[in-house]
Formats: sequence, C-alpha cells, structure tokens
Amino acid sequence: MDITERAVEYVRKLFNTDAGGHDVSHTMRVYENAMLISEKEPGGDNEIIALAALLHDADDPKLFNTGGNANARAFLKEQGVPPEKAEKIIGVINSVSFSRNKGKRPETQEGRIVQDADRLDAMGAVGIARTFAYGGAHGRPLESSVRHFHEKLLLLKDALNTEIAKKIADSRHAFLVSFLRELEAEAPDLSP
Ligand code: NI
Repeated sequence: MDITERAVEYVRKLFNTDAGGHDVSHTMRVYENAMLISEKEPGGDNEIIALAALLHDADDPKLFNTGGNANARAFLKEQGVPPEKAEKIIGVINSVSFSRNKGKRPETQEGRIVQDADRLDAMGAVGIARTFAYGGAHGRPLESSVRHFHEKLLLLKDALNTEIAKKIADSRHAFLVSFLRELEAEAPDLSP
C-alpha cells in the first residue's frame, strides 16, 4: 500500500460519522477532480496534490476541534514524510479554504489545483445536495441554504484558477442557475 492509499484509509476513518456534506465521498471526489486537473494542466507535484486533496478537510474547523492542522500533520509525520514536504502539503491545504483566503489565489500550482478541485464539488447537482445536507445537519432553515447559493456558490465559476476546471464548471454553474430559477418559481418566499 502506498502513502496515497494509506491517506484514503485514514480519511475514511476520520469522516465516518459526518452527515453535513463533508463526508469521505466529498474528499474522494476532490481527490479525483485534483488528479484530473493535474493530468490536463501539469506542473505540480502529484504526490503533494494527492495528499493535500485527501487531507484538505482533515482539520476543517466546521468538523474538528484541532488547531494548526494537527490531524494532517500527525498523519504525515506518522508516515515519515520529510518535514519540508509535509510543510508544502500543509501550505497547499491552508490555501484552499474559501473563507480563510477571501479572493486570494494560491501561490503554487498544487494549491490552485486542489482549490479548483474543492470548488467544483460545491457546484452542480452535488453542490446542491451538499448545501442542503449541511444546512439540515446544522438545523438551518431552507432560506439560509438558498442564501448560501447567492453569497458563495454562484461566485465560484469566476474564482477558478485552471482552464480545465473552468470548462468543467460551465455546466455545473448553469445547473445551479436553473435550479434556483425553478426554486424561485415554485417557492418565491425561499429566495432572497
Ligand atoms: Ni472540502
């Protein structure tokens, strides 16, 4: 088993109870998106991309009380990843988050790829499913999830870094827009 496979095993255990849209299937889609983007737009270190994608939510404050990327760091240390490489992976993870990096683009190719991979999973049908799952898990009313589309998800299309992600995002964005149009027609009171 190589380190990527061990990271898959690690996150499977870590996320086994989440019902709020940050489950292991999200992590696996981000990993697969990242590998696809990297294949089309090379220039990043694939092992760093793979491990950062797999560990990108391992210390998400919405899910865990760990500070300073403690889960990701502990895994990398236990696997014997050299400190310099581990720091690069942590740097990529910390450049991905939407809320923490307000419009700032990642400085590395690895960061740009993993960020796009994560953002693609917040769009399209899967983005819709995850938004309502998150709202439900946090006891929020539907209006609050609908507001999230307008405040964040509709903006993602123009915040992507790579050409291939922009291409994949086109139909996902169009699907979000048509979903919101239909929702507004059926239930005007839910829309802002
Ligand atoms: Ni994520």
